[in-house]
This record gives sequence, structure tokens and C-alpha cells, in this order.
Amino acid sequence: MTFDRSTKIAPSILAADFANFGAECEAIEAQGADWVHVDVMDGHFVPNITFGPATCAAIRPHIKGVMDVHLMIAPVDPYIEAFAKAGADVITAHVEATPHIHRTLQAIRGAGAKAGVALNPGTPASAVAELLDMVDLICVMTVNPGFGGQKFIDMTAKIRELRALIGDRPVHIEIDGGVDPKTAPLVAQAGADVLVAGSAVFKGGSVSDPAPYGENIRAIRAAAEGTYV
Ligand code: DX5
Ligand code: ZN
Repeated sequence: MTFDRSTKIAPSILAADFANFGAECEAIEAQGADWVHVDVMDGHFVPNITFGPATCAAIRPHIKGVMDVHLMIAPVDPYIEAFAKAGADVITAHVEATPHIHRTLQAIRGAGAKAGVALNPGTPASAVAELLDMVDLICVMTVNPGFGGQKFIDMTAKIRELRALIGDRPVHIEIDGGVDPKTAPLVAQAGADVLVAGSAVFKGGSVSDPAPYGENIRAIRAAAEGTYV
């Protein structure tokens, strides 16, 4: 994985057909996805359950690019090795999920993955101020995590604050929740480069009719880059 700040669209497979993950990952990549965002939920840290490392390992061969694993689980440390072995390129843990996020991030890099830290809407930018040299990505949640299809919560002030804190460091700012062609320009202008989108990418398409995925991805990218008409 090389670092750059160009806009990257990361469809969340939370909005995909759960019986068809392999084909869905291939379809979104063929339709222009840059990263594939994989939401892991435990029914404890968040009020919903998705899947674990075995599913990540199963879909890995169907993803050519970056597998971006968002862990909404607590505890997180006992499972880091398993997600790294499953082939995650980026593993993101929530600052709210552990009193020892510093240790967690060390463990993620130690396992050979890029380290991400996620902030819930109620958590300030300052929560990551001591972590900037040990992360590759900061994920700003623009919904309370747990479900797809929720309403976007404006976090642009926090994004700008993080962008200033990051300075020249090679750290991505990822936005997760309610991203669509209307909200993408707000977060992109504030400094985000990785845009996660579930419902806004998968709506209207399927593995047998994947063209809408491409139209949706292009619309979000164009909106973020300011070329949307
Ligand atoms: C929310 C997840 C998101 C979610 C985004 O807990 O982390 O990745 O799937 O879905 P949309 O784009 O539908 O808000
Ligand atoms: Zn997510």
C-alpha cells in the first residue's frame, strides 16, 4: 500500500448481499472501488453482529486491492492476530473500545497491518493527539456505529482539526457513515481522503446487475472532487 491523499471510495460490504460476498467484492472493484471496507460487529461494543475473521479470510481472495477492516468489537486485542492472518491490509480499532488504545495500535502494526483508529461522533479529535505517529489512518464516524443507512452527522469541524493535527504525517482521514454525493463534498473539503459508503454504493445494483455500483461510485467521487454536475 502506497500513501497518497487522492480521494478513495471504500464501499462497505455491510450493504452487500451477505450470501454473495466474494462476487460482491469482485463486482465493486470492477466498478471502480478503491478499497473494500469490511465492518466487523460483535453485538457488545455495538448493538449489531456481522461476522469475524473466518469471513474476512474467505473474502480475501476476491479482493485485489486494499481490505480495510473496521473492528467494532470489545475487547479487540485478542482478535488482532486473527484479522491480520485473514489478510487485512488496514485494521481499525475504536478509541472507545479499550482503555489501552496505544497498546492496541502497537499490536496491529506488530501483526504486520496498517493501524487505524476510529472516533465515535461523541469523541473529540484530541483523543488521538498522542497517537499520531503510530497510526496510518484515522476514521471519523459520521454516524453512531452499528448499522448502515443512517443519517449523516456533520463532523466537519473535527475533520479540519484532525487534518491540522496530522500535518505532513502520512495518515489517511477516513469518513464512515451516511456518505453520499451530497455529503461527500463536505468531508472531502474538510480534509478526508477515504470515503466509506455502504447504501449509497450498493443501491439499485446487484451482482447480476452491477452497473449501478459504478454509477454510484462515480457520483460520490465526482462530488468529492468537485466535478459533480
Ligand atoms: C456503521 C459502519 C459503516 C456503514 C456505512 O457502523 O461502520 O461502515 O456500513 O453505511 P452507510 O454508508 O449506509 O451509512
Ligand atoms: Zn465501517
